[in-house]
Amino acid sequence: MTGAVQTYPRASLRSARAPVLCGLGAWVPPDIVTNDELAAVLDTSDEWIRARTGIARRHVAAPGTATSDLAVEAGQRALKSAGLDAADALILATTTPDRPCPATAPQVAARLGLGNIAAFDIAAVCSGFLYALASAAGLITAGIAGHVLVIGADVFTAIVNPRDRATRAIFGDGAGAVVLRAGQAGDAGEIGPFVLGSDGRGADLIMVPAGGSRLRHAEAADDSQRYFAMHGQAVYRQAVEVMARSTTQVLELAGRDVAAVAWLVCHQANLRILNAVAARLAIPADRCLINIEQVGNTAAASIPLALAHGAERGLLRPGDLVALTAFGGGLTWGSTLLTWPDIECGTC
Ligand code: UT7
Repeated sequence: MTGAVQTYPRASLRSARAPVLCGLGAWVPPDIVTNDELAAVLDTSDEWIRARTGIARRHVAAPGTATSDLAVEAGQRALKSAGLDAADALILATTTPDRPCPATAPQVAARLGLGNIAAFDIAAVCSGFLYALASAAGLITAGIAGHVLVIGADVFTAIVNPRDRATRAIFGDGAGAVVLRAGQAGDAGEIGPFVLGSDGRGADLIMVPAGGSRLRHAEAADDSQRYFAMHGQAVYRQAVEVMARSTTQVLELAGRDVAAVAWLVCHQANLRILNAVAARLAIPADRCLINIEQVGNTAAASIPLALAHGAERGLLRPGDLVALTAFGGGLTWGSTLLTWPDIECGTC
């Protein structure tokens, strides 16, 4: 234990009203696997993967590299982008924690030198970053924290079945992070409102069957139950419908028209899904931030990596209205809005 015991809410934070994005960072591991490299070991082809998913390559963590390693890199860059060396809380969205127990966030906080701050993981699969943003916004508006580091990081290749061409072709590894600060309504970078949802009746559409308390490792019938499995087509249909619907709902909540959206940032699940969501919302393709070709589906890291892609290329301009939307295992989903602030993105 170091430092003074924190009391909540802190008196100095009680007047804070709005969560405001003030830092962005991203990191992907250096090793790249191309579609042709996958086709050398699986019954697939570059043509199939590009045509059905829009993915050309993905970054893959080397053996021995864990989610916390990626999260620390992205977290450092987001803190630097925000001009900070401290935060009051750290939230890590991940489906691939370093270990089943304990949570990974406290180790990330310690390695970032953030001391004894509140730190916890969020498990909402590909919607995890949206859930983490909403949780951070809640900590801020409740006066519990003044600055929150929100990280989405996954080493999904650790749980993908190396023999499953459908999932191995899609997923890649990476991490993205933002810093939210306590600000005032109307500040550049203000984030919200949020729409979050779930439908546990669809839990079996995306799952790792074994390794939890329901089906223990020792009871798994075969090796494949230890890996991630997905009913691709059923997920595809729901992803399109739900991301479009929750984006419409969040715009209605904010009293904004879809025409005001400068950039739509969907969870990068599949290029065909992204195009279908944009079409349903009548948002032109050139107002969608898309980086799936270069990184594949990076689960909880997907949205902040897409933001970093847009910021690095100067696509995101201060004042732009940005809509974020995600859908994933659980089933879970989430959408929010933010006005883009004047920030530098910290990348690899
Ligand atoms: O991130 C969380 C949310 N996840 C998603 O939103 C993912 C949603 N689903 C998808 O993106 C797509 O469903 C997939 C990319 C997973 C699959 O594409 P699809 O067009 O839905 O293909 P399918 O599952 O209907 O399969 C069609 C055929 C099958 O062969 P048969 O049974 O018709 O002989 C598959 O075995 O394509 C086959 N296939 C492949 N062939 C070559 C599946 N994956 C591959 C592959 N290479 N990588």
